[in-house]
Amino acid sequence: MNKVAGEFVELAGKRFSCREFSHRPVTSPELAKVLEAARLAPSAKNQQPVHVWALTSEEALARIRTVHTMFNAPVVLVVGYKESEGWTRSCDGKNWAEIDATIVGTHIILAAADADLGCTWVGSFDPVKVKELFPETDGYELSALFAIGYPSATAAPSERHFIRKSMEEFTTEI
Ligand SMILES: Cc1cc2nc3c(=O)[nH]c(=O)nc-3n(C[C@H](O)[C@H](O)[C@H](O)COP(=O)(O)O)c2cc1C
Repeated sequence: MNKVAGEFVELAGKRFSCREFSHRPVTSPELAKVLEAARLAPSAKNQQPVHVWALTSEEALARIRTVHTMFNAPVVLVVGYKESEGWTRSCDGKNWAEIDATIVGTHIILAAADADLGCTWVGSFDPVKVKELFPETDGYELSALFAIGYPSATAAPSERHFIRKSMEEFTTEI
C-alpha cells in the first residue's frame, strides 16, 4: 500500500496550490484544455448541475479583485451549481449538486497541473459579494473560485502542501 506509481499519482503529487503567478498569459487553447477537463467531470446521475464562468478580461479580473486578490492570477474560474438541477437521493433527501461542483473543481486543479499551469482553489470568498459583482451567476450557488496562471519563478508549495496523513491514518484495509 505504501508504494505509489503511475503518471496520475505523479501529477497528484506535483500539484500544489500556486499563489504567485508570472505575467505569461494563458492562451485560449491552454484554458480550453482545463475547461474541457472540467466539462467532462462526472456528476450524480449525470445531471450536470454545474456552470463555470471564466474571467479572462482585464475588466472582469479587476472586478473580482475588488473582493479577493486571487493572487493576481491572469485567469479566474468561478464554479457554481444549481441544487434544482442536481440529483436528490430519495432515501434521505440529500442533494448532490454541491458535490458535483467540487468534482469539477478537482478536475480543474489537476488539469491545470497537467498543463503546467499553477492554480489555487479559493473557498474563502464572500459569495454574496461575488454574485453582486457578476449578475451572470444569478440562480446559482457559488462553490469556489480558481486562480489560474503560469507560476512565477519563485512560486513554491506552502508548508501545508507537505503535510498529509500517513497512509496508515488515511486508509483502513478491511
Ligand atoms: C475546498 C478548498 C478550499 C480552499 N480555499 C483556499 C482559500 O480560500 N485560500 C487559499 O489560499 N487556499 C485555499 N485552498 C488551498 C488549500 O489551502 C491547500 O490545498 C492545502 O493547504 C494543501 O496544500 P496544496 O494544495 O499546496 O497541496 C483551498 C483548498 C480546498 C480544497
